[in-house]
Order: sequence, then C-alpha cells, then structure tokens
Amino acid sequence: MFQGVSLIDAKTKRAKKKFYVTTPIYYVNDSPHLGHAYTTIVADVLARWHKLKGEDVFFLTGTDEHGEKIEKAANSVGKAPKKFTDEVSERYKLIWKTLGISYDDFIRTTEERHEKVVKKIIELINKNGDIYKGFYEGLYCTGCESFKTETEIVNGKCKDHPSLELKLLKEETYFFRLSKYQKKLLQFYKDNPEFLSPVFRAPEIINRVKEGLKDLSISRKNLKWGIKFPLDNSHTVYVWLDALINYVSALGWPDGKSFKKFWPADVHLVGKEINWFHSVIWPAILFSADIEPPKKVFSHGWWTVEGQKMSKTLGNVVDPIAVSKKYSVDAFRYFILRQIPFGSDGDYSENSLKEKINGELAADLGNLVYRVLSLVEKFDKKIIGVDELFGKLRLQKIDNHMEKLEINSAIEEIWEFVRATNKYVNETEPWKKEKEELSNILHNLLEAVRVIAILISPFLPETSEKIFEQLGLNPQKFSDIKFEKKFEGKVKKGKILFQKVE
Ligand code: MSP
Repeated sequence: MFQGVSLIDAKTKRAKKKFYVTTPIYYVNDSPHLGHAYTTIVADVLARWHKLKGEDVFFLTGTDEHGEKIEKAANSVGKAPKKFTDEVSERYKLIWKTLGISYDDFIRTTEERHEKVVKKIIELINKNGDIYKGFYEGLYCTGCESFKTETEIVNGKCKDHPSLELKLLKEETYFFRLSKYQKKLLQFYKDNPEFLSPVFRAPEIINRVKEGLKDLSISRKNLKWGIKFPLDNSHTVYVWLDALINYVSALGWPDGKSFKKFWPADVHLVGKEINWFHSVIWPAILFSADIEPPKKVFSHGWWTVEGQKMSKTLGNVVDPIAVSKKYSVDAFRYFILRQIPFGSDGDYSENSLKEKINGELAADLGNLVYRVLSLVEKFDKKIIGVDELFGKLRLQKIDNHMEKLEINSAIEEIWEFVRATNKYVNETEPWKKEKEELSNILHNLLEAVRVIAILISPFLPETSEKIFEQLGLNPQKFSDIKFEKKFEGKVKKGKILFQKVE
C-alpha cells in the first residue's frame, strides 16, 4: 500500500514555511547546567525537525551579559565585566557545540548590533508617549534582576533566591507605561489562545494581568554595567528590557532581511519563572513600538535532581558535559526529552537515565539496528511486496505531536514503530527463511531502519548519522520517508549503537 507513495501529508509539501525559535539568553554568571541545556536542546530539536521538513528555520540563542548580577560575578573573580563576559560566552558556545546544538545565530547583549537596537526601541516607545521619569522605592532581587512584590517575598527573602539579601532601592528611574497595555494584553490573549502555552499556565498570567499592571522601571541610575539609557546618559537600561530585545536585534530590526523573513517568532521557549517577562512585558513593549508580538511563548517546568532543588549549595548541579562524556550526548539528549512531557516539572536521576539507556536506546533501537544489519549480510536486494510493517508508522501523528511541542509523545510514537519493527523480526523469523522470502523481509527491515534514522535525527543526531553510515547512505530528509522498492545503500555493519550500562 505504501509502495512508492510518500507518507507525507500533502499539506507539508506546499509553500516553504518559516520557523523561528528562540531560547532565553543565559546569564553569564554561571556555567551552563542541566536547566540551560534543557531549553537549548528542546530548541535544537524543534529547529532540526522543521529543517528536516524543508522549512526555512532560524534558531537563536545567546547570552545576557549586563546588569548587577554579572557585574558582581565579574568583580568576585577580579575581572573586568567585558573580559569576564567574553570568556563565559565562549564557554557557552563550546558547550553547545559539544551537545550538538545547531543554532543559526548567537547573540550577546554586549554586541554593538544589539545595543543599537535597544536604544532605537527605547527612543521609539518614548516617542509614542510610553516613558516618563519618576522615583522608585522597592526591594530588588539581583538573582531575578527585578523588584519583588509582597507575594514574592517569604521571610524577608525572594522566594526563588532565599540565599540572597533583598536590596532596598530608592532612586530616580524612567518608567514604561505597562499599565496602559492591560486591556490590550487581555484582548490579545483572548484572540490568540495559543500564545500562552502550555494552556495550563495561561490562567496564572491572565489573572495577574486582570489584577492590574504597575508601570515598569526600565532604567537604573546607580549601575554602570549596562547600555546607556538613550534619553538620559546618567542611567543605564534595565537588564530585562535590554535582554528581551535580543529576539529582534539578532534579526536586524527594523530593516534586516532576517527580520522581514523570520519575525514574528514562532515560539519563544522559556522556563516558567521567566514567563511573566515574556508573556506580559515583552508583548507590551512590542505593542508600544508597533512591532508584531511573537506567536507563542512556551514556558516549561523545572528539573529537580534526585527529588531536590538543583543548587550549588547542595552540590547537586548536573553538568551536561560530564554526563555526556560518561554516557554519550545522545543518551543525555534522549533522557531529558523523553522523561517528561515538555512543559511539566521533572526529576533527574542517574538511575532513570541508565534505565532509558538500557531499555529504549540499547534494547529497542540499538539492538534492532544491529540485528537487521547482521542479517542483511545474506541480502540480495530483491523485493516482492511491502508487508504490513509500514502501516505501523503513524507519521502524521508524530508530526502533529511535534507541532504541539509534545516532544516526549512524538518520541513515544517513533518508538512504537521501533518496537513494531523488532516484533516484525521476531514474527517473520528471517533466519528460518531463504531466497526471495528472506530478501523480501530484509528489504522491509532495511527500509524501516532507514526511516527510523530519518525520524530520530532531530532528537539523536549522532546516532542517526551512525545509522546512515552503517546503511551506506547520506543523511536524508523528511520527504524521503516513503517506502522505496530499491534500497540504494551499501550496508556495512558497524559497532553497536548503545552499550548497556551497569
Ligand atoms: N537571562 C535571563 C533570560 C533572559 S531572556 C530574554 C535568565 N537567564 S538564566 O540563565 O537564569 O536562565 C535561563 C533559563 O534556564 C530559564 O529559562 C530557566 O527556566 C532555565 N533553568 C534554570 N534552571 C532550571 C532548572 N533547574 N530546570 C529547568 N530549567 C531551568 O533567566
């Protein structure tokens, strides 16, 4: 039934779509850990998936380098902030390279191309009457780089950073008229029900916006390490306003070719604790500057480690590079993508990682490829018919899951096919067959392995490459997911893909 017939929905063949995905830009006071790697790997998977489908993709990540927190971190190691941020941002790039992150651009907020845009946007929102000078008094958390409201303070400390002292700031500041946008934001959420994603996080934002919005302090008088506030050089730009603008500065707003092609972002991936900045402040700034808002802000949950909050004090911070060295990059990627639904909180433990390696990676996938390629040594490339095996591949379902960012369900669905293929080996017992019947079974199996190699490529890029190498084929695209009558590769069985671990 699938002979020569593409399994791709006609829809995906139409005009070339664009896809713009972003990660938060990371503070450079810290080395990248599991939390940072998580958002970045998910963004990478989405970018690779859409590239695989032949879309025009732009994947942006970068570093957030201004503000009090970074200034302090630089001081504490006796370095000038610029030198310090140069070094840490390089470390980020190196780590992303090790983890196979295929970003298209890496923006640093200390770059001129960014600073220029920040200043222009501030001038624009000022022209539109949304900035005024005032005085602010409040408790500031350098961990969050924001003023805290009463409900965010527990026992005199910020609830997210209990180890830091809150700082009482009383200073002249410039305000952005955030309050002016309350109605417009509520209407926008109503008209764009997918903007606040996943849906279960929407009510919290909507209810808070309904309670009323306070104008936002967007400049700091006594902080040097920041972009000079264009309306008053004795101030610097508030680090969150500076940071959010990266999503358009990297594209060369307002006239850049990339801006015209890729904006609005299809999805900003963020952690739940920075959802407010992206879902409320960012669209309000864009409304004021007359720039279209992004299509979606997807806020994911937090990882704990063996049931505890990940923290330096507890000494349980998971270093993605150390884990990848011990078990492989793809094993680490697979675990964090597969373990929890994207959006929910999750718990990391080495034991669950090992379970995934031994089960789904070694026993299901690795074993399948090894078995098939071992059998194929006798193969004479003749095909009689396509067995029902290909009916087990539900490509549209996989694609729908990916569209909805249900990454672990997409993987589960791919693994259904991996397991179906293993079952097909067991049931057809090719070792008992000969001649045409044998070659028919093996052909079906080779085609299944080829399709699996395509499907897993966004999630497990190294493994996919290894399979293609063993199949004697170049990496293929989504449009190659169809059953071919002739297998074009030259198989050379290689090493087992995943070793079981103790
Ligand atoms: N610089 C800001 C973002 C500005 S975006 C315009 C920032 N940086 S951060 O380095 O502190 O955090 C970046 C991301 O890492 C956030 O999305 C956050 O949710 C994520 N994580 C940090 N720890 C985490 C876990 N333990 N688990 C999952 N993600 C977490 O915020």
